[in-house]
Amino acid sequence: MRQLIAGNWKMHCLAAEAVALAQGIAAGASGIGAELLVCPTALHVAAVAQALQGSNVAVGGQDCHQAKQGAHTGDIGGPMLRDAGASWVILGHSERRQNHGETDELVREKTLAAVEAGLTPIVCVGETADQRAGGQETETVGWQLAGSLPKPFTGVVAYEPVWAIGTGKTATEQDVATMHAFIREELVRQFGDAGQIIRILYGGSVKAANAASLMAVPNVGGALVGGASLNAEEFLAIARAARAG
Ligand code: PGA
Repeated sequence: MRQLIAGNWKMHCLAAEAVALAQGIAAGASGIGAELLVCPTALHVAAVAQALQGSNVAVGGQDCHQAKQGAHTGDIGGPMLRDAGASWVILGHSERRQNHGETDELVREKTLAAVEAGLTPIVCVGETADQRAGGQETETVGWQLAGSLPKPFTGVVAYEPVWAIGTGKTATEQDVATMHAFIREELVRQFGDAGQIIRILYGGSVKAANAASLMAVPNVGGALVGGASLNAEEFLAIARAARAG
């Protein structure tokens, strides 16, 4: 299956920088067969969507509220993201789980709201360094999958070991193979045959230099890229390393 390369721009870029980055990516993206997505801060979704019009790069948000609308100061609803030009949304990123106390249950509610708004969710799971040191990595991810994914689930899962995010430490191909095989098994257990075709992204210090080997691991359906997605050439090099079909 075609791999998905998604850039998570996190809380980076002023408006002009976000537009320039989007234009740089769009300019080099036309011959690339992998599916491409960039997720700027919500404030810049509309401008980035406009900059990407006519290109093969989609736009997504980094979070959305579990309600459509209402008295939720500072929050953003799925329909607003959709209205601004987003077609995807990242949910349950470990930085949201850690910094905003997001639980599996909340992530599941947000996932339902995103799908209802017409957004494709990318639901993130992953263990901390302590959980891995304690041999609890699969158990942790298993609970996160069971709690965070609604039934049916029509989105993408991203496995992002917390200790590999922004640290320059990448999980070994063996670690990724083991965890992605486990996630596949869990998805099939939860969703039957539909679980066979859910894409499972790897995230955590993906860069041009390690993309080809990570993208070749069985059950890896693409990458969720943080730091390296802030440079158009680096992001495009990762995208070129991904499978087009
Ligand atoms: P990183 O971030 O590529 O900078 O490690 C990945 C992510 O948090 O999605």
